[in-house]
Amino acid sequence: MKKVVCDTYDDLSLFAADIFTRQLKSKADSVFGLATGSTPIGLYDELVRRYNAGEIDFSNARSFNLDEYYPIDPGHPQSYRSFMEKHLFSRVNFSSTRVLDGEASNPHAECAAYDAEVEAAGGIDLQLLGLGVNGHIAFIEPDTSYPLASYLVELAGDTLKANSRFFTEDEKQPTSALSAGLSTIFSSKHIMMLVTGANKAEVIKKMFEGVVYTDIPASLLHLHPNVTVVVDKAANGE
Ligand code: F6R
Repeated sequence: MKKVVCDTYDDLSLFAADIFTRQLKSKADSVFGLATGSTPIGLYDELVRRYNAGEIDFSNARSFNLDEYYPIDPGHPQSYRSFMEKHLFSRVNFSSTRVLDGEASNPHAECAAYDAEVEAAGGIDLQLLGLGVNGHIAFIEPDTSYPLASYLVELAGDTLKANSRFFTEDEKQPTSALSAGLSTIFSSKHIMMLVTGANKAEVIKKMFEGVVYTDIPASLLHLHPNVTVVVDKAANGE
């Protein structure tokens, strides 16, 4: 697991956009694994800028998102489908985008269908990850065991607290989510995790102690051969 330290959040976003650009240039029909949350917004804005400047083209590329609240109407302003439409999908030209369906009547069948679609696409070429303050990746919350397949997960208290900032008092925050499982994430050819801000410094420090902590899902990434963790100075504890 390699760590790259960028001075600022803007530098981190540019670095990540360069990795995306290189991936697209080397394989126009790349399959991207995408994340939501505050962290990738700078990256998505930069990808849109490059797309508008004619520097990159997603017309042959496909995307799969890591997770979605459950239950939630995909049209709800806080759904991850809405987030992706707003920040990226409506602004560039992916050939297809897949977000787990927050309204699926059978969440288990929805997860199985999602895993099968990722596999049929040949797996993810470049998987983008954020990092939860509690060490979660996607919505794989700290636990004593982890399902390999995508699954319906009850969100941890830390996650609910961290994400409550997005919901108004009238909007009911879902307490569960559908999340990609470890198999899908680990079958990615390259994983790039973006981490910004001093509130993630403690978990970043633990991730780089050279130990796999079973209660820090992100530390399991040590077992993947091609992981780049891009942090800004604040997340690096500087
Ligand atoms: C979201 C996701 C989550 C976030 C994480 C960090 O799709 O997979 O694991 O990446 O909760 O969120 P932010 O970037 O808001 O700190």
